[in-house]
Amino acid sequence: MSSSVGTFRSSLWWVSFGLVLAVSGCGQHSKPNTIFMPDMVYSPALKAQEGQPRLPVQGTIPRGFTVERMPESIDQAGGLQNPLPRTVANLEMGRKYYDIYCIVCHGPTGMGDGNVVPKFPQPPSLQSDKIKGYSDGKLYYVMTNGQNLMPSYAPQTLPEQRLAIVHYIRALHKAKSPSDADVKAATKMGAGG
Ligand code: HEC
Repeated sequence: MSSSVGTFRSSLWWVSFGLVLAVSGCGQHSKPNTIFMPDMVYSPALKAQEGQPRLPVQGTIPRGFTVERMPESIDQAGGLQNPLPRTVANLEMGRKYYDIYCIVCHGPTGMGDGNVVPKFPQPPSLQSDKIKGYSDGKLYYVMTNGQNLMPSYAPQTLPEQRLAIVHYIRALHKAKSPSDADVKAATKMGAGG
């Protein structure tokens, strides 16, 4: 009994507290209200996809950004050489991004045996003679533009990361079917004795 009186009293207290707030709020139009989280109060009320995105000032290029000029067809891309040097660091970068973006479908060595296969249709092998014969530009072109079932990876990756993946695909070729020169070079470096 006493506890329900207590509950009644405390709810009465809250009601009167609310009234005081409401009255004081209405009475003082000349004073601005207290503002919590001002950013949200003053931010422009735009709906998603509404209006134009802000364009950069004409003739300017953000620092540290390279404009990506892409050939219109894979044949046009054919003659492009990889401008990224084939260093250990760049090969590591290539492996990192191959393992993030490509391995799920193409598999660890490019055989088309990634984890999503066969739920996703099996991609052709990246160890094929066709792909071994692909120039840097063509490999880059497929990643950038996609090809039939394969989506473009341009939205997720920077050009530099795709160029590094090109180096890594070449390294996968060498690892799977090394030439005599590759074996010699590897032996010299101490790999495999
Ligand atoms: C969602 C699965 C999927 C992912 C992820 C994916 N690919 Fe593909 N890839 C495919 C499929 C499927 C094809 C075959 C497309 C076709 O039918 O022409 C393909 C084709 C290719 C080809 C051309 C092969 C040929 O013989 O014509 C290359 C090169 C390639 N992918 C590289 C990559 C690289 C590099 C990545 C990572 C940046 C990547 N792919 C990510 C599914 C994928």
